[in-house]
Amino acid sequence: MTSVEVANLVKEFTVRKGLAREKFRAVDQVSFTLVPGRTVALVGESGSGKSTIARILARLEKPTSGQINVALDDGTPVGGSMYRRQVQMVFQDPFASLNPFHSIEHHIARPLQIHHRAKGAEQTHERVVQMLERVNLEPAADFAQRRPHELSGGQRQRVAIARALAPGASVVIADEPVSMLDVSIRLGVLNLLGRLQREDHLAVLYITHDLATARHFSDEILVLYKGRIVERGPADDVILDPHHDYTRLLALAAPDPERLGKVVSSENVPDRSTLDNSICYNHFTASWEEAEVRATA
Ligand SMILES: Nc1ncnc2c1ncn2[C@@H]1O[C@H](COP(=O)(O)OP(=O)(O)OP(=O)(O)O)[C@@H](O)[C@H]1O
Ligand SMILES: [Mg+2]
Repeated sequence: MTSVEVANLVKEFTVRKGLAREKFRAVDQVSFTLVPGRTVALVGESGSGKSTIARILARLEKPTSGQINVALDDGTPVGGSMYRRQVQMVFQDPFASLNPFHSIEHHIARPLQIHHRAKGAEQTHERVVQMLERVNLEPAADFAQRRPHELSGGQRQRVAIARALAPGASVVIADEPVSMLDVSIRLGVLNLLGRLQREDHLAVLYITHDLATARHFSDEILVLYKGRIVERGPADDVILDPHHDYTRLLALAAPDPERLGKVVSSENVPDRSTLDNSICYNHFTASWEEAEVRATA
């Protein structure tokens, strides 16, 4: 089993301001730990730095400074190709993250073969079918033959989850895995992630805007605001008794019947104008090329 320790992570981007170039700190001294069998939720509004942290963990981006130590139970450090195999990502957009020219079978067979988890065509096909069954895509042999456009968004995201697990992942970074799916099917996909996490004892980083699902699906919550963790703690404590104004704001945006009338009474509703609002709202999502490279690197 694999744990991840992130310490003082910093990511600076150079941005243009008129003719000048300025450094912008998207991630600022972030530290947290992911352990097997537990889910940590990273919540924060758009532009707060969530995906940047995910991309650094998935080695799609280099940090400016800070340490990421990945180790097995006995302390053996995990690096190089073992790191790339064990730390996998589920991207936000299931439409962009699958290659439209390849079958579903191909998407899962590639990482299985590249990471030596199946030998020969027959065994590979068998394992692909098993993986599709694990993510409840049945009849699996039929789904294996299809191309991405023949699947719904929820079904595609299940394929993306199977692909992330195919290399033998023990750490899964799920970057807003259900935010682009229809509300009615989100819970099904999150429940699937929860089941796989328990079955495989995965360490999961669940990135979301949504405090309600963060509370339900995670053990610990980290609240990110402008690249910094402003509040952290056991999921129930953070939601039911938020200390930071920004967490209260997020909590207000996701009403929870248990909390209403309790913590958030009218006098402790924070004023949005007192919080610095100079955040960019760019959206970064992965292309299928990038997603493919990540699963087969
Ligand atoms: N390659 C880049 N170059 C310059 N700025 C970047 C780059 N990638 C991200 N940023 C900036 O860093 C900040 C954090 O972006 P990030 O994508 O991590 O936010 P996020 O919390 O994932 O937002 P969202 O909820 O919209 O996905 C944003 O202000 C963004 O504009
Ligand atoms: Mg993001």
